[in-house]
Amino acid sequence: MTSAASAPVKTVDELKGTSADYQTAVRKIVRSHAVNELYGAQVFDEPAIALAPTPYAKWLTCRVAMEEYGHHVRFRELGEQIGIPLEEMVPASGKKRPLSIFEFPLKTWEEFCVIKLLADLAEILQVEDLMQCSFLPLRNLARMTMPEETFHAQFGRDFCLELCRTDEGRQRVQQAIDAYFPLLPAFFGESGSRNNALYRRYGIKQRKNDEMRADFLGRAQALVEGELALKLPEVAEAA
Ligand SMILES: [Fe+2]
Ligand SMILES: [Fe+2]
Repeated sequence: MTSAASAPVKTVDELKGTSADYQTAVRKIVRSHAVNELYGAQVFDEPAIALAPTPYAKWLTCRVAMEEYGHHVRFRELGEQIGIPLEEMVPASGKKRPLSIFEFPLKTWEEFCVIKLLADLAEILQVEDLMQCSFLPLRNLARMTMPEETFHAQFGRDFCLELCRTDEGRQRVQQAIDAYFPLLPAFFGESGSRNNALYRRYGIKQRKNDEMRADFLGRAQALVEGELALKLPEVAEAA
């Protein structure tokens, strides 16, 4: 097969003519997005509707939940087209533990706002990377998803800024950051990940896990310390 990195794979049909390794790598990425989008919607976004303090906040949270379920639906549709069994694209399959970011027990509105501010920023980095993906249907999906992920991070920022107007609110947002932020660096995967090396060789992903993590930490710091004037907890950089 020609190197996928040099020749983009334009359609699902074209994918069938690529190497088994390339197809496996594409399926892995699509599967993980399908599972993670659904997981997040189930454990954070939908329950957050009940935590939202005002009708306005509930309305926007409903929109966020709708969009996160929508991301799952889109990734699952592509997954079906490229031959991923449906049961592998839902978290309930029980074969794999969820990512640690989804094991956080959401209890408060402040925590949800922090999750949107920081976890959706982490997702934005992943989607930005996929916008250069050698498999064009995935690149297109990333382009469709990006404005919505940007809205989610903006939602988190706006509500965090609002909460930070009072001392009590600032304290609660800081507590939520202290509790949730340490889970995020691991979201970018292991330092010397073999999967990631394979993804980069095929042009499915562009950046190393450590490069993404470092970029994320810088952007999270600009948000938390620059914009909210709060403190980002110290975390180990490597997963
Ligand atoms: Fe999403
Ligand atoms: Fe999102």
